[in-house]
Amino acid sequence: MALTVIQHPLVTHVLTHLRDKTTKPALFRTLCDQITLLLALEATRDLATEEKMIDTPLEPMIGRVLAKPLAVVPILRAGLVMVEPFLDLFPDVSVGYVGLERDHITAIAHSYYCKLPPLDGRRVLVVDPMLATGGSAVQALDVVKTAGAKDLALVCIVSAPEGVALVAQRHPEVPIFTAALDRELNAKKYILPGLGDFGDRLYGT
Ligand code: PRP
Ligand code: URA
Repeated sequence: MALTVIQHPLVTHVLTHLRDKTTKPALFRTLCDQITLLLALEATRDLATEEKMIDTPLEPMIGRVLAKPLAVVPILRAGLVMVEPFLDLFPDVSVGYVGLERDHITAIAHSYYCKLPPLDGRRVLVVDPMLATGGSAVQALDVVKTAGAKDLALVCIVSAPEGVALVAQRHPEVPIFTAALDRELNAKKYILPGLGDFGDRLYGT
């Protein structure tokens, strides 16, 4: 299993403000945008390119363009905030949705929605800000694989060691890109130090 914890002073800065409980939803969403852009660049660093013949204003040249289209699949609801940066960066991205919600007592996620574009032949990035027990991520990866995804990556803002271990066990070939690997889960399966309930902070619920 490949785990990449991205290192950049801006990531450290943004994470600190995301974790700060006094950060209001509007700023929280802006910070999510910024950190997702940095994660998106790292998670797509190895995308294949192919030759393309073009004419510059001065002469013909062989350039290179992306060889394969992308798909981004947010785990609703919190994952929605990570879609826009991918749309900004990549021209031909298609978007699928997997709706999962953790039970407040058991922390086991149940599925309430799924709509996916064709995934075969695309790099599929499953995005969710929080990787806690890993239950939601493992379910989402199961769903996209069943729908034909073969070239996959998981992109999370904050991860717990427990979630990383579960994804590594159930989907060992899927690389994980994250901005932070935190210490542990608490008794209610929240990440420590974490940033609390991401969806609630994002949408002010
Ligand atoms: C949060 C988060 C992940 C999940 C992570 O979503 O966005 O999807 O918990 O936890 P896990 O790794 O233990 O499965 P939540 O279920 O709270 O739903 P929401 O996005 O609608 O707030
Ligand atoms: N989901 C969240 O939003 N936060 C956590 O710490 C764990 C799961």
